[in-house]
Amino acid sequence: MSDLAKQHAGEYAANLAEDGMLLGLGTGSTAAWAITRLGERMQKEELNVTGVATSRSSLELARQAGIPLEDPSPGRIVDLYIDGADEADDLGRLIKGGGGALLREKIVAIHSQRHIIVIDPSKKVRVLGRAFPLPVEVVPFGHMVTARHIEGATRSRAVLRTVGGEVPFMTDNGGYVYDLHFESGIADPETVAATLASLVGVVEHGLFLGLCDVLVTGTEEGVQTKEIDKTTAKTREA
Ligand code: 5RP
Repeated sequence: MSDLAKQHAGEYAANLAEDGMLLGLGTGSTAAWAITRLGERMQKEELNVTGVATSRSSLELARQAGIPLEDPSPGRIVDLYIDGADEADDLGRLIKGGGGALLREKIVAIHSQRHIIVIDPSKKVRVLGRAFPLPVEVVPFGHMVTARHIEGATRSRAVLRTVGGEVPFMTDNGGYVYDLHFESGIADPETVAATLASLVGVVEHGLFLGLCDVLVTGTEEGVQTKEIDKTTAKTREA
């Protein structure tokens, strides 16, 4: 999928930011376009915003773009959270965590007023988890036991994410990631989410259910936007 579609989606979302807003800054190549565009707007339009970064890489990019940063705080909700996704279905249910930032992304997502997801058309699916495996962050201690437990509870195959085939990939929080492969996709995302949330050793999973407000799909020509009715995409996780 061309970079232009991602650029259109990311920049469209960045153009929705208004003066004084606290912005959630997502992780990945599509969110990166939004961060760069926000930096541009701060310079050219004197836009005044602050960001909450969801990963070390988005923090670095935001610094380069000149966006002042703060950590999530109880006194201040994020006005607008812009992030990418690995898959999105018709109800705005998502798989995230391809970049390994799912825990911080979910923390920011649940503390945001409005959550905008920016994708290219290849991310739209009918059934989640058929083409893209579901990332799950786990505690390194006993991770192989946890992985067997996950496999049994979710009827999936858990593959440890590595760097170069041997060294486990480590998240910004010091966790490991297992990518869950489901033979025919995830038929009931709410049940899988609730099951994973109940397992000892699991830190967080990449199912984002009932969190997305707007799906922005970039194309070569521009963007398509879709408001999500969250009542039909409710999560049982809350
Ligand atoms: C990182 C994520 C990203 O949003 C997701 O992987 C999409 O990335 P990209 O925009 O590069 O396709 O969830 O943890």
